[in-house]
Amino acid sequence: MKIDGIPYRSVWRDATDPRCVHIFDQTRLPWTIDILDLRTQDAVAHAIRSMQVRGAPLIGAVAAYGLAFAMNKDPSDSGLRKAAEELVETRPTAINLRWAIERMVAALSALPAASRAQAAYDEADALCDEDVAVNESIGRHGLALFEDLWARRRPGQERLNILTHCNAGWIATVDWGTALAPIYMAHDKGLPVHVWVDETRPRNQGGLLTAWELGAHGVPHTLVADNAGGHLMQHGQVDLVIVGTDRVTRQGDVANKIGTYLKALAAHDNNVPFWVALPSSTIDWRVTDGVREIPIEERSPDEVTHVGGLDERGHPARVRVTPQGTFAANPAFDVTPARLVSGLLTERGACEASMSGLARLFPDLVQSA
Ligand code: MRU
Repeated sequence: MKIDGIPYRSVWRDATDPRCVHIFDQTRLPWTIDILDLRTQDAVAHAIRSMQVRGAPLIGAVAAYGLAFAMNKDPSDSGLRKAAEELVETRPTAINLRWAIERMVAALSALPAASRAQAAYDEADALCDEDVAVNESIGRHGLALFEDLWARRRPGQERLNILTHCNAGWIATVDWGTALAPIYMAHDKGLPVHVWVDETRPRNQGGLLTAWELGAHGVPHTLVADNAGGHLMQHGQVDLVIVGTDRVTRQGDVANKIGTYLKALAAHDNNVPFWVALPSSTIDWRVTDGVREIPIEERSPDEVTHVGGLDERGHPARVRVTPQGTFAANPAFDVTPARLVSGLLTERGACEASMSGLARLFPDLVQSA
């Protein structure tokens, strides 16, 4: 996608220093476009923990380079094992992280130590290229879904109203995004899409990142407080909800940013289709019951007791919005049971959020899990 007319991916290799990888510091977006250099496993671990990079697919892609950096330093079997374990622990809910690291380890284990570093960079590059192709494919399948909805619009309906939660755009993946990919394609094709952007407290990925992405691409959108979705649905203002996800279980339960479950409940009550867009790397074939089995990241209470913004000099600042000493809890994700999900949108097309639906699209992956 483009920033000021220049095409970017969310992670890329330096043109002259092949051992350096660049990312945008997402803790500074949209106020400042800060491009960071990553050269060590520690820098990657810090970027993931501090959410300089975030979004399930991007976390996996950047972690893959983290493993390549580690191979520069210690390509031995124990070095590989240790780096893999450390990187997998940086964030607990997004399964793409473990998927990417397991893929890297599988590609490197059988190689002699001396060739592991180069092979690791190559594998991480391939993983990134695949992420772009996969998301583009999700976008194409989603576009067909949107076109179908638009073809069945109400008489006089002027726009297709789509609600999304958190940020599942290009900045959350290597490019395109998952839930936003079909939105970009629909807009580019002239479909009159309009997006309700959930603010997504406490970190405001909607207000900061999704609104920024959509604005830069010229997609009409309106920011709403997280609690507005149910009201909008009751009044016929939402034709479809589409979100990304951090982990989907083999039976189709969906972990995503906290608040997603409430949107799915409201959508169910109002007969609004609730779709989830994902690359197959987000499916955790080892887990069945998402509510009981998916680990939910608990983040700092400060994210709830404070809000971020710019001070009067335009510098990023955080302001307390609760009484001093107020105790806050901060579960970062929730799980939407498969029964509330209208369908899953993947790189191989759409399917029911169920064991049989996923197995129909991914017989090869079910087998090897
Ligand atoms: O905590 P974050 O910002 O990493 O959470 C991101 C989300 O919940 C996204 O919806 C999800 O990773 C899908 S991104 C394509």
